[in-house]
Amino acid sequence: MAFFRGKRRFQLVASMLSAVLAGAGNAANAGDVSNDVNFTSDVIYQIMTDRFHDGDQANNPSGSLYSFGCSDLKKYCGGDWAGIAQKITDGYLTGMGVTALWISQPVENVFAVAPTAAGDTSYHGFWARDFKRTNPIFGSMADFENLIAVAHAAGIKVVIDFAPNHTSPSRQGDPLYMEDGVLNDDGTFVASLNSDTSGVFYHNGGTDFSTYEDGIYRGLFDLADFNHQNGTIDGYLKDAINLWLDKGIDGIRVDAVKHMPFGWSKAWMNSTLEHRPVFAFGEWFLGDGEVDPLNHKYANESGMGLLDFRFGNAIRSVLKFGTSDWNGFHGMITDTATAYHEVIDQVTFIDNHDMSRFHSVGADPRRADMALAVTLTSRGTPVVYYGTEQYMTGDNDPTNRGYMTSFDTTTRGYNVVKKLAALRQANSALGYGDTEQRWVNNDIYIFEREYAGNVVLVAINKAFTGSTNITGLFTSMPAGTYADELGSLLDGNAITVNANGSVDAFDLAAGEVAVWHKVGGASAPTIGHVGPMMTRAGQAITIDGEGFGASAGSATVGGVAGTVLSWSDTQVKLQVPSVTPGFHSVNVNGSTAYTGLEVLTNSQVSVRFVVNNASTVVGQNVYLTGSVHELSNWTATNSGSIGPFFNQVVHQYPSWYQDVSVPAGQTIEFKFVKIDGLGNVTWEAGSNHIFTAPASGTAEVNVNWQY
Ligand code: NOJ
Ligand code: NOJ
Ligand code: CA
Repeated sequence: MAFFRGKRRFQLVASMLSAVLAGAGNAANAGDVSNDVNFTSDVIYQIMTDRFHDGDQANNPSGSLYSFGCSDLKKYCGGDWAGIAQKITDGYLTGMGVTALWISQPVENVFAVAPTAAGDTSYHGFWARDFKRTNPIFGSMADFENLIAVAHAAGIKVVIDFAPNHTSPSRQGDPLYMEDGVLNDDGTFVASLNSDTSGVFYHNGGTDFSTYEDGIYRGLFDLADFNHQNGTIDGYLKDAINLWLDKGIDGIRVDAVKHMPFGWSKAWMNSTLEHRPVFAFGEWFLGDGEVDPLNHKYANESGMGLLDFRFGNAIRSVLKFGTSDWNGFHGMITDTATAYHEVIDQVTFIDNHDMSRFHSVGADPRRADMALAVTLTSRGTPVVYYGTEQYMTGDNDPTNRGYMTSFDTTTRGYNVVKKLAALRQANSALGYGDTEQRWVNNDIYIFEREYAGNVVLVAINKAFTGSTNITGLFTSMPAGTYADELGSLLDGNAITVNANGSVDAFDLAAGEVAVWHKVGGASAPTIGHVGPMMTRAGQAITIDGEGFGASAGSATVGGVAGTVLSWSDTQVKLQVPSVTPGFHSVNVNGSTAYTGLEVLTNSQVSVRFVVNNASTVVGQNVYLTGSVHELSNWTATNSGSIGPFFNQVVHQYPSWYQDVSVPAGQTIEFKFVKIDGLGNVTWEAGSNHIFTAPASGTAEVNVNWQY
């Protein structure tokens, strides 16, 4: 009954919305919500659901959970899914041209107020208590379905935040603290930290962030920390995300991926992609200037992209803090182009809810506009944090999570996003192109994005005073005169390009940003994007690009033709053929290879490998290798084998362990190896260990080192 009412209501809203959009002529800017594995032409708008717009006062909590007028930023302030839907139908979000929303974790959160001085609440959505129910303060399931329907009708994708690392704040030995980190399964009690007979949670205390292992197997802050090897939890978290996938979400932002076992995350992602492939990006926090090879490996081999903290920190250093310059920025661009196999699947931003807002009190808002312009024209899939277009400020949590101040569609920031979101849809160089530096000094950066004859040229001068005459600039745009795509919003001018690619000298004023572009036309088949990048034989991948030709040709994985499921000049859906499991190239009609597609041996399960009595000398670590791709096919190197293994928290030296994603139901041969920093390898003696992975769920294999 209730369900029927909800459905009727959203059908009505959705049809009213199409009428509104048709009238306003906005539909032309709409994104393609049918392609959930490729977000590269999208602009994602990040909304803290509680802080955006209150569309339904009836669901607001009362008492110490709620702050009327949002004067207390640690409380719920009333924002909800109905409010977001209203901001789609009234044209605020569609008018800005954003084609995807990232909203707070939608699941039921604890209702308890923390006994802290601030009286913290779960308004941010990161304190789950039941991943299979909605947070009623954001709305009912009918409200959620309505938001999806309204967004899709407007050409907008919906990405949910999802935090499978933990439930909520809790304390060992103090079951009365808040809700004791309780986990429910659609209303049925599963466990809480102090009532955990089946080992759903770890009980290892909180992490001091000293090592990767410590951050995984101890709690993040005081959040009750899931033991992902527990079969109940493994199944629960797979079922829970499937429930939201079945509601029609288009993508997932995965919280705190650095704090979950890589192997479990990969197996979970495999399960998710097999249920319905969508783009997922994880949050692996990196501090300013931090570069972490484990972060790159995660982005390359987990089946997810990551939030691009290297990009975010670099743009903030140049344009917010003034601690770096464009030479430094371009160094980040070239480094990340090789460190990430798919740099365009990394998600860029200039600020978010875990750092100071880009704009700050007393700063020139033009700095934020410039940062948005560079980010929306750079490689990677860009996010705009809600309110950045309104120049909201706030240096710390929770002031950086203020209530949306206004919905003014005339701010320059709003209009910079509007122009460039439209350009991301119109010119594929922004989604797929590489980045070439055309002219640089500390203040000036002129960069070119190019893909299959499509070109976007961007010039920025961050100097506060004085203009620079730009001479000696070259571009790959053909001869002609090009207007500034920003319409001089940031004082851009037209340029004239000559037949040899030289650009006539022009002045680039202090604070100017100009964007010029040319839509080309592929002269040969050229792949722009493949998704998902982790798959297996028999599953479908979506290959986007240009010049594939109108009639079906041949598309291959690792040189083997797959079954074509659909074909157009810009998109091929291909069933992955049987190939040797491993990393492979994709080709369409003999195009240049798109490299790095991981073809798994089979569906994945997470298995904990433990080896006891493996004593090592200083500098040596224990690794695993074995007979399948997932165990590195008998590679014995410190970059190729699985590891280094852990030996501190769950098991202690001379025992070593790691949770590894392996093919389900497969009989695997394996051995452990000791490898030192120079790459010297000591193999286990004896014959190979043999293990058959379970068809589903998790398992543990525990052996002694064979001397
Ligand atoms: C990272 C989130 O972005 C942050 O806001 C949250 O508090 C932690 N993960 C824990 O969920
Ligand atoms: C002119 C050169 O053509 C360009 O490549 C260079 O970046 C600038 N000078 C700044 O040094
Ligand atoms: Ca509300």
